[in-house]
Amino acid sequence: MASPSRSGVFDSASDSRLEQFCESISFDRRLYEVDIEGSSAHAQMLAVQGLISGKECDQIIEALEAIRGELDADTLPMRTELEDVHMHVEQALIDRLGDVGRKLHTARSRNDQVSTDFRLWIRAQLDLVDGLLADLQRAFLGRCEADFDVILPAYTHLQRAQPVLASHYWLAYIEKLARDRQRLADCRSRVNICSLGVAAVAGTSMDIDRKFTAEKLGFDDVTRNSLDTSSDRDFVVESAFVLTMIAQHLSGWSEEWILWSTEEFGFLKIPHAFCTGSSIMPQKVNPDVLELTRGKTARVVGNLQTLLVLIKGLPLAYNRDLQEDKPPLFDSFDTVIACLQLAIPIVSGSTLQRDRIASRLEHGYLDATTLMEYLMKKGLPQRTAHHLVGSLVGEAMKRKIPLSEMPLDAMQEAGVSVDNSIFDVLGTANAVRAYVSYGSSAPEQVRQQMKYWTALLS
Ligand code: ARG
Repeated sequence: MASPSRSGVFDSASDSRLEQFCESISFDRRLYEVDIEGSSAHAQMLAVQGLISGKECDQIIEALEAIRGELDADTLPMRTELEDVHMHVEQALIDRLGDVGRKLHTARSRNDQVSTDFRLWIRAQLDLVDGLLADLQRAFLGRCEADFDVILPAYTHLQRAQPVLASHYWLAYIEKLARDRQRLADCRSRVNICSLGVAAVAGTSMDIDRKFTAEKLGFDDVTRNSLDTSSDRDFVVESAFVLTMIAQHLSGWSEEWILWSTEEFGFLKIPHAFCTGSSIMPQKVNPDVLELTRGKTARVVGNLQTLLVLIKGLPLAYNRDLQEDKPPLFDSFDTVIACLQLAIPIVSGSTLQRDRIASRLEHGYLDATTLMEYLMKKGLPQRTAHHLVGSLVGEAMKRKIPLSEMPLDAMQEAGVSVDNSIFDVLGTANAVRAYVSYGSSAPEQVRQQMKYWTALLS
C-alpha cells in the first residue's frame, strides 16, 4: 500500500529502506488514544464550522471509536509504510468510511496533530506523576509522627554536624518534592496550550475555530503563532527537566538510604520485599531498588541531554528531527513513574533502627555548635567561642568522652567560664531543644511544619 502522504508528485514508490528508517509507529503507537481524542474534537469542530456535515462527523466519531477498540485489542495491523500512529488511525478510518474518512484531515497537518497529541499525552502523564509525588510526600509525612522522638545526626560533608529530629529529615524530602510539584504545575501550564489548527506552518485558509477544539480537549488556550507552534518542543524539554529534577531527588534519597541501611550506619531497615539476595553470599540483603533508582537517574539525565541536542540549531519550523523527541521523553516518564511507585512503599515500610541510632548518637560532638552559641549568649564573641569550644572538643576527644561528661572544672581550665546551666545545652536532646529559629529542627518548628503539610496533603 502506498503511503497516504505520497501525493501525485512522486514518480516512484518509496524505497523500503526509507520506510524502515523514517517510521515511528514502533514507538508512537502509544499515542493512539490521544490521537483519537484529538481527531474526534477536530471532526466536531469541522462539523460546527460546516466543513463536514453532522452526519459525516457522527460516522467519523463512531469509526474512530471502533478503531480505538481494535488498537486496545491490538488487532489493527501495524505497517511501516504508514509511518506513524496518526497515519494508521487515518488509514483505518479511510478503509472504513472511504471519502468521508478522507475529509478528516481537512485544515490539519501531522505537524499540528503530533504536537497536540503529545501535549495531551504529556498532560495526563504529568498529572499521574503529580499524584505519585503527593503520595510520596504523604509517605514521608506519615513517618513524621511515628518517628517524632528519634534524633538523627545531620551531616555536612557526610561528617556528623548537628542533631536533628528524624521528622526534620522527612520534612526535608517533602519540601524537595513540593518544589518538584510546583515545577510540574508550571510546566503543565505551558504544555496545556492547543497547537491544533496551525496546520503545517502558516495556518489555513479554511474557516476553522481553534478555540472550539481547544476547549473540547481541555486545553487552557490556543497557541498564538503558527510558525512558533510548528517548531516548538520547549514543552517536551521542560517536561524532561521536571522529570530530571525528580529523578535527582530520588537518586540523592536512594544514596542516603543505601548508606543508612549499611552495617556501618545501621540507621535503617528497608523492607525485605524491596531487597534482593546474592547468588553466592547467603547472608546478603541488598538494596537493589534504591541502587537502580540511583542508576536509572543516569538515563533520565541522558534523555534531557538528548532532547536539548535534538532541538539545538533547528530552523523554523517543523523538521523531521522532531520525531525523535518521543523515545527519550517516553523513557523519562516510564523511568520516573516506576521509581516513584517503588519509593512510596519503601519510604512508608522502612524502619529506623532506634537502638543502633541512640547508641552512637552522642558520638561526634553534635552538640558543639549549640555549646558555642550558649557561650555567645553569655557574651563571648563568635570567633572566641568557636575557638574555645574547639579546644574543649579536643580535650574531650583525648579523654574519649562526650562534652556532656566533661567536668565543670576541666571546662573552666580550658578557659570557659561557666556554671552548671551549661549542661542544659549539652547532649543531643538538649541541643535539639535549644534551637529556636524558623525552619530549624526545634521540636515546635517541626510540629508546625507537620501541621502545615498535614493540612496541605490531606
Ligand atoms: N511522525 C511524525 C513526527 O512525529 C509526524 C509528522 C510528520 N510530518 C511531516 N511533515 N513529515 O514528527
